[in-house]
Amino acid sequence: MSDIVLKLSGIVKSFPGVLANDHVNFTLKKGEVHALLGENGAGKTTLMNITFGIYRQDEGEIYINGERAEITSPHRAMEYGIGMIQQHFSLVPSFSVAENIALGLKGSKISPKVDLVRKKVKDLAERFGLNVNPDSRIWQLSAGEQQRVEILKLLYMNAQIMILDEPTAILTPQEATNLFKTIKEMVKYGASVIFISHKLKEVLEVSDRITVMRHGKVIDTLKKDEVSERILAKKMVGRDVVLKILKKPSAPKKVELEVKDLWSRGDKGIYAVRGVSLEVKSGEILGIAGVAGNGQRELAESIYGLRKYTGEVKIEGETMRPLSVVSRMKSGVAYIPQDRKEVALCGGLPIYYNLFLKKPFRVPEFYLNPYLFNSSRLKRPSEQLVNEYLISTSSLNLEVKYLSGGNMQKVVLARELSLNPKLIIAVHPTRGLDVGAIEFVYKILLKARDNGTAILLVAGDLEEIFTLSDRVAVLYEGEIIGYSKPDESHLEEIGLMMAGVRKVKK
Ligand SMILES: Nc1ncnc2c1ncn2[C@@H]1O[C@H](COP(=O)(O)OP(=O)(O)OP(=O)(O)O)[C@@H](O)[C@H]1O
Ligand SMILES: [Mg+2]
Repeated sequence: MSDIVLKLSGIVKSFPGVLANDHVNFTLKKGEVHALLGENGAGKTTLMNITFGIYRQDEGEIYINGERAEITSPHRAMEYGIGMIQQHFSLVPSFSVAENIALGLKGSKISPKVDLVRKKVKDLAERFGLNVNPDSRIWQLSAGEQQRVEILKLLYMNAQIMILDEPTAILTPQEATNLFKTIKEMVKYGASVIFISHKLKEVLEVSDRITVMRHGKVIDTLKKDEVSERILAKKMVGRDVVLKILKKPSAPKKVELEVKDLWSRGDKGIYAVRGVSLEVKSGEILGIAGVAGNGQRELAESIYGLRKYTGEVKIEGETMRPLSVVSRMKSGVAYIPQDRKEVALCGGLPIYYNLFLKKPFRVPEFYLNPYLFNSSRLKRPSEQLVNEYLISTSSLNLEVKYLSGGNMQKVVLARELSLNPKLIIAVHPTRGLDVGAIEFVYKILLKARDNGTAILLVAGDLEEIFTLSDRVAVLYEGEIIGYSKPDESHLEEIGLMMAGVRKVKK
């Protein structure tokens, strides 16, 4: 018997104006981790959506264990033993972990006893090192924990082919390491895994083979030992990518953002930010490093007026009222939130509306009245933005929810950065972007800095912090535990502070 569990043969899928998959061939071996790599919009998610029965291919065949399979729905896919964790989760926030897993069980008309599910979930969680309490409500869980629930769902239904679409985009480095352990465990039990990621290091760490896609086509399938980060980047993008960007020394000027003794609570009602004071000057980037979950999100949301706080936030010397986003917008603050889909975009609106959602405060001529766009005036500037930010789309009228993950992020960036902001609050600005797009975003953020914008950058990835920041503050349990310099020689010091060790003053 052949050891190929899944074979995709000549898969073609087009959407109006795009050929998302162009005669794709792909095989997955038993017990293999096979990475799928490619630029934003290359067609990775589409290919996996076809494999999981969310879309139907226009042409081509799918074979499971050598037999032709008609995968007409996710239900059918699950019957074939295929499970998928999507780029954006599909859990019911008000249900418990166990209830969510019971809900997803294949073909069950009568829901199994939640008690039974709870017990099995506990066993699986232990065996695969997936630490989560079956009785927690989903809304109480961090993104990493929610992902563990999704993985448990797959294990519960005993999926043999597991598709993980950018699972690590939302994880802390520590959580990613744990996920890789889980993946290795799953493979040991005979499962096969398709792993999508833009992080080349991870791809090299976890996979056995790597397939690179570009513009809907498979460019190459390689064994891990045959490649390096540089080779992969070049295969993906079709040119050499600068993985390290040099920046000029900063020339900070007047204080743009001043935060004094800010306290704010997280979603669970406990203080997440505990007395933070900081300053960001025009022409500098202050990087906030820290393990995710130490108050970064709450800090950014408070400063932008999305979350209640006590203390003071001043922009250009003017005190902002808590919970007033409009006053921030009017003062020229741009915000790149960590949740583009929930916070930054209206999925059901066309791209060109999304590109201009914030303009009434800045460019009134784009509006007929505060609630109504002047569509005809938006077309040309949105075309310009789509070109400038290399947003890959077939049409400006496409609803944003149909864009690939990375291209959604580019829409947010294009909107926020094109406002010529005085201050940018950027939370994980390159999450979900391919290496080429990351290089591009780094360049525009640095250009904004050089033109005098103040930038507060929150990132989990220290490499990103080092590349962009002029100063680094480390956030630990809601407090700034110390400052450091953004270079490799301070790595150990920053690492220690991230673990809660205060800097000793000499
Ligand atoms: N339902 C849809 N309607 C119209 N176009 C679509 C739809 N789904 C995907 N596309 C388009 O197909 C192309 C491939 O998208 P896909 O999501 O597969 O890319 P991807 O490789 O997963 O990218 P990313 O790395 O950004 O997630 C994109 O141009 C996208 O806009
Ligand atoms: Mg995708």
